[in-house]
Amino acid sequence: MTEVIDGNAVAEDVRESLRGAIETLTDAGHQPGLATVLMSEDRASATYVSMKQRDCEELGIQSFHVEVDVDAPANELYDTVSDLNANDEVDGILVQHPVADHVDYEEVVRRIDPGKDVDGFHPENVGRLVRGDPRFRPCTPHGVQKLLEHTGVETEGADAVVVGRSNIVGTPLANLLARKADDGNATVTLCHSRTEDLAAKTKQADIVVAAAGVPELVDGSMLSEGVTVVDVGYNRVDGEAVGDVEYESAKEVASAITPVPGGVGPMTRAMLLYNTVKAASQRSG
Ligand code: GUN
Repeated sequence: MTEVIDGNAVAEDVRESLRGAIETLTDAGHQPGLATVLMSEDRASATYVSMKQRDCEELGIQSFHVEVDVDAPANELYDTVSDLNANDEVDGILVQHPVADHVDYEEVVRRIDPGKDVDGFHPENVGRLVRGDPRFRPCTPHGVQKLLEHTGVETEGADAVVVGRSNIVGTPLANLLARKADDGNATVTLCHSRTEDLAAKTKQADIVVAAAGVPELVDGSMLSEGVTVVDVGYNRVDGEAVGDVEYESAKEVASAITPVPGGVGPMTRAMLLYNTVKAASQRSG
């Protein structure tokens, strides 16, 4: 039987595990705080941000939200980030990607205090991760690792194929899975849009993580019996949520698979809370 990995349940475990630390910090006079910043008219982005705020409220994390007009000059977003950097009540800063077209997101990220960079996107934090000493693991890759751990999937010695090389998911995840650590030590192949014969790569994998942003790119014919499949994709096709994996055919061959929705998505949100509490602990310590 194929195990359908329940991301909602694992995310709930993560949230519960944070309650004690949040209480301790709050009692000591430092309630953890997360600031979200939105500079976009994208409805989905607005929904994601409001879900993150709701998550905070439920756990007793203070939440701050700033909306910057999409037509405002880049400086207005930079100033917002500077203000949040200077605000002692704010432990974590998340600028929702994408921002307005005329603003360079990388420049925005560079301006975030690395100690408050709960996305783990700042070059200093990316460098630390690659050097084997992560301060904040980016939320989606960390969530994928937690799902694998919870499912009892051994990464050490496993052949892991990551499909997609984004800065947000594929590249940091490939680094995390390859590094010397209990939840690493995998042999990692990082595939992307220029990979020739993707199926030949995925066929030899024990673990396949699909994070390319292409609906149903990976199907059962490209997988081997017993593989673990993690689907990071979230695409809207004819009004329906579809992953980067063709679920029905992949489920036929996989020993474990994440659904869309209800797989990786809830974990990304949970690990953001984890990073916020970590930031608060580090800043109060
Ligand atoms: N947009 C899509 N995913 C993410 C994420 O993990 N962090 C931020 N800041 N924006 C995103």
